[in-house]
Formats: sequence, structure tokens, C-alpha cells
Amino acid sequence: MSLDARAIYVTALRNTHAVEMQALQIMERQIERLQHYPEMEEALRRHVEETHGQRQRLEDALSSLAESPSTLKEGFLGFVGNLMALGHVPAQDEILKNAYANHAFENFEIAAYESLLVIADAAGQGGHTTGFRQSLREEEAMAARVRELVAPTTRRYLDLTLAGDKADR
Ligand SMILES: [Fe+2]
Repeated sequence: MSLDARAIYVTALRNTHAVEMQALQIMERQIERLQHYPEMEEALRRHVEETHGQRQRLEDALSSLAESPSTLKEGFLGFVGNLMALGHVPAQDEILKNAYANHAFENFEIAAYESLLVIADAAGQGGHTTGFRQSLREEEAMAARVRELVAPTTRRYLDLTLAGDKADR
């Protein structure tokens, strides 16, 4: 059985949608817990808003093809889940692990959208790419912001920890 470009595209849309749903969970979990890192919290809150728009673009593309998002947890998500499992274990350096994982996650999403754009074109759905380019720019901006925050976050972590305070989140 050979896959046609449309089937490949539908799978790519579902995978990317699953990634965005996972992104929302991961970010919301961090936002709930963050106390000492307001810049990270603000970046996450803003990106949660953007991510709802990204999710909607993917859902719109799927419904234009009379398809719907997958409800299955796929192997694809397993990879991301493992990456983010880092953030599950409460530890004094939880904030550092989350900062690294957020950086990795945004870059993962950048690759997913670069790939989706190529697949959309191959499937003759170039009309969808304007929205996905917007999503890609948002992921790039968030990746850059998270990277910018790694050093100041680490400095605050050090200051709090060396003063004997809790610094984990
Ligand atoms: Fe993102």
C-alpha cells in the first residue's frame, strides 16, 4: 500500500496538532507552578495564547480536507513526552531543566513546521501555508525568547539557591 501526498499531509497535520496539544499541557503546568521567574512565566503565557491560534490553524486545515485531529497518543508524542518528562521530577533545579526543555521543544516545533510546509505544497495545499508560516514565525520568536532567558534564569536560580532559598520554580 503506497501513501499518497494527501495521506502524508493529513498525518503531518495530526502529528503537528498532537505536538501543539502537548505544548499547551507542558506550558500550562509550568505557568501554574512558576513563582520566582516572572519573565519566563510571561513568555509562556503569551505563547499559550499563540499556541491556541496554531492549534486552530491545524484544525482548520484538517477540516478543509474533511479530516479531524487524532485522539491517539502516538509514538511521535512519545518522543516529545520523554523529552519533557525531565520537568516531572520536582527538584531544586527544576527551573533549569524546564528552561532547557522549553528551548528544545520550540526547536522541535520549528522543524515540524518547516517539514509541514514542504508536505503541504507537495499535497497541493499551498493555500494553507500562509497560516503555517505565521505559526513558524511564532515558534522561532518563542525559541529565541526562551534562549534569551536561559542566562538570566540561571543567574536568578544561583542567587536564590546560594542565599538558601527555594529556587526550583
Ligand atoms: Fe511553540
